[in-house]
Amino acid sequence: MEKAMLFFGAGFYQIPAIKLIKKNYPYKLIVLTGVDNDPGIKLADLGVLVDILDPSAVEEKVKSLNVEPIAAITVCTDWPLVSIGRINDLYGLRGISEETALKSSNKLLMKNAFQKFDVAASKFNVVKNYESLIDRLNEFNFPFFLKTPKGGGSKGVIKINNADELDKMKSVFDLNKNTEALVEEALVGVEFGAQAVVVDGSLKYCFLHNDTVTDPPIQVPIGHSLPLEFMSDSLASDVDSSLERAIKSLGIENAVCNCDLIYDPDLNQIKVIEIAPRVGATGLTEIIDMSYGINLYELAIKIVMNEKLEEVDVDSEVTPSAILTIRSDRDGVFRNISFPDEEGVTFSVKPEVGERVKVFKTGQDILGFVCCTGDSFKDAEKKLIEYHKKVQLDLE
Ligand SMILES: Nc1ncnc2c1ncn2[C@@H]1O[C@H](COP(=O)(O)OP(=O)(O)O)[C@@H](O)[C@H]1O
Ligand SMILES: [Mg+2]
Repeated sequence: MEKAMLFFGAGFYQIPAIKLIKKNYPYKLIVLTGVDNDPGIKLADLGVLVDILDPSAVEEKVKSLNVEPIAAITVCTDWPLVSIGRINDLYGLRGISEETALKSSNKLLMKNAFQKFDVAASKFNVVKNYESLIDRLNEFNFPFFLKTPKGGGSKGVIKINNADELDKMKSVFDLNKNTEALVEEALVGVEFGAQAVVVDGSLKYCFLHNDTVTDPPIQVPIGHSLPLEFMSDSLASDVDSSLERAIKSLGIENAVCNCDLIYDPDLNQIKVIEIAPRVGATGLTEIIDMSYGINLYELAIKIVMNEKLEEVDVDSEVTPSAILTIRSDRDGVFRNISFPDEEGVTFSVKPEVGERVKVFKTGQDILGFVCCTGDSFKDAEKKLIEYHKKVQLDLE
């Protein structure tokens, strides 16, 4: 049977990884997606339309293809993780198992796993439904984060500041048919991220980055920069040991993981918010490449293909860099976007001419991103903020 590499998702964020596989590997490249006009489909040897959120549908489809899967992977999205885990288990492939994927895609299972393995993380409670939350409201300290187990990507995760915000609380239960939700202690501090490289269950190294998120109640990442602002040797080792526990708690074996963390400078303490066993989105790969000359997509693919990884000194001096997403302040139909010429700034655009675009609210609405290097990460960030103001978006 013909050997095939399976790639899940074929949107804007997946295209660079799809191109990389096509360029670097001689195997049949099959792209699976639930969106029939996804731009990445035409880059593959075969495009398969299937609901990638449904592991049984994916299993059936893959079995019907009469190929020998040798890898199953995605980048920048959590949606297909459980299906990928199913395929990995079925064909004995390297990567994440279905159990790991289930824990990683469900905030309640993840918090339980974190607790069991003593991962430094926020305290939490579980409420049965909206009525039970209201009954128990005096048990909880404000502010708190209210989350549906399957929430994410700005849906079903909201910060509640006081007991009057009933509509906001209700809105979370409207998303999960008024079933279980998490009430999480709101951590204070500076949010940051890590791209953790895990091989055979061990943390090999991680790239730490500054994150820019929008203001509450719904916090959406809109940019990143390198190197991390406040790192010290002792904190770096705290991050490593916390992530090692988190990785063990979810049973992650082979993957590049996108990790959300928070640092409290008053307590000099870090906590893990969540971890997903796939490369992070919003331009992270692009800036890590600018700063370290390492391509995370390539790394993630090499890991599942069981290839030798080159050694990386993540503590070395690096070129500072930043990425900022391009966002629209109104709805419309995309006609054109023009970028001023500026040395060292690169950009990438998501919508095609004629596509409907929306005023920025969630990660789905971003129109692309701009990246650059600078004398410091702050300098790079500043450059991009100024640059973003000069980007001309032409909507109908
Ligand atoms: N317990 C918490 N304390 C402080 N901030 C939080 C907490 N939980 C979530 N957040 C904020 O909300 C964002 C989204 O929450 P997260 O659980 O990571 O969901 P998502 O799946 O949408 O990324 C986080 O990146 C962070 O900014
Ligand atoms: Mg997150």
